[in-house]
Amino acid sequence: MAPLGSGLILGIETSCDETAAAVVRRGTEILSNTVASQIPVHAPYGGVVPELASREHLRNLLPVVRTALAEAGAAWNDLDAIAVTEGPGLAGALLVGISFAKALAFALDKPLIAVNHLEGHIHAVFLEEARRASAQSHDGMPEERLPGRQVLALVVSGGHTHLYLAQPTVSGWSYRNVGRTVDDAAGEAFDKVAKVLGLGYPGGPWIDALAPHGNPEAVPFSFSQVKAKAHRRGEPGALDPAEEIYFSFSGIKTAVLRYTKVYEMEAGIERRRAALAEIGNPRPEDALALCDKRTLDLIASFQRSVVDDLRRKTFRAAERFAVDRVLVSGGVAANRELRVRFTAEAAERGLPIGFPSLALATDNAAMIAAAAWPKFVAGTVADEALTAEPGLALGR
Ligand code: KG4
Ligand code: ZN
Repeated sequence: MAPLGSGLILGIETSCDETAAAVVRRGTEILSNTVASQIPVHAPYGGVVPELASREHLRNLLPVVRTALAEAGAAWNDLDAIAVTEGPGLAGALLVGISFAKALAFALDKPLIAVNHLEGHIHAVFLEEARRASAQSHDGMPEERLPGRQVLALVVSGGHTHLYLAQPTVSGWSYRNVGRTVDDAAGEAFDKVAKVLGLGYPGGPWIDALAPHGNPEAVPFSFSQVKAKAHRRGEPGALDPAEEIYFSFSGIKTAVLRYTKVYEMEAGIERRRAALAEIGNPRPEDALALCDKRTLDLIASFQRSVVDDLRRKTFRAAERFAVDRVLVSGGVAANRELRVRFTAEAAERGLPIGFPSLALATDNAAMIAAAAWPKFVAGTVADEALTAEPGLALGR
């Protein structure tokens, strides 16, 4: 086992469009959590431009790491390990963080720990729970984290919609993937629908803010039963057909587009896009006066449909696998309607449910440093040949 020192891990996260660094003590205490967002860089394109993301990471990473250390009041040599996101994500973006982390670990002669970004999102919730538990001055491990307990984690972001069964073991956590999307991720649908409607980027917070102003039952979107495409069955990573839970979010995006054409909404959309472009740094509140009732109803109905599909399938899985609790993480876990509806259903079923705070829901490095802690304790360090794994899966 590695000497545990004071347990300070520097986390580095560059898998997509946030350059992030954080210092976390013993996987539970956040000393700093710095994020440099690239939203203004990618917003004009309505999506992340990989090449630009890599260059921005290169530009931002050292200042972000310096800030994280300064805010933590830590010196380079106080660190016990460096943790970095290995994948999944954009290849070029990951390479910037990994190269930096490798060089830093080498120069400081500290262990380097590779973290799966999806495991990071799950640990964002554990981090939150540990913080709450220590605030309530409970001693030891929260009951839910005792070996044998099974958690169902929905990781739902711009790139992922996955259901995992997670179990604590003596050497860290083990994961089993029991659900995933066959096409777009849920966050991607939020982003694409916002783009179709002439709203800002990323779309999730815009739709979240505008949806309460519309009627969620106005447009009856339907999610048909999604079946795995025949050619995916039997492929590595394919789920057991008896246990499969599949999501699909590309159909609803097309349905929204079709709706805007049927009701000839294009001119209004263009007017809104142009009006928002006039405002320097537009915010969702600026869009409200630019949306008519039909648009607000469409936004509310879209959000309700996506949230309900996520909710139904997640709780179906919770029942099927008889889990002890549910957690939801990733950027879309910031959605207010999702939190309200998941919380209500969990309460009805008597199942505990957890979410990250808003700051820990979207990409950050505190979750990477937290996920690295059990690996550090178990002495699991990265190989010298560590490289970016854009398609890295979590669990079996
Ligand atoms: O986890 P994240 O920061 O990055 C990825 O790993 O993808 O998630 C970003 C995604 C984007 O698609 C964004 O639109 C969505 O999370 N998102 C939201 C909300 N805030 C962010 N979606 C719905 N409601 C929100 N409030
Ligand atoms: Zn993410």
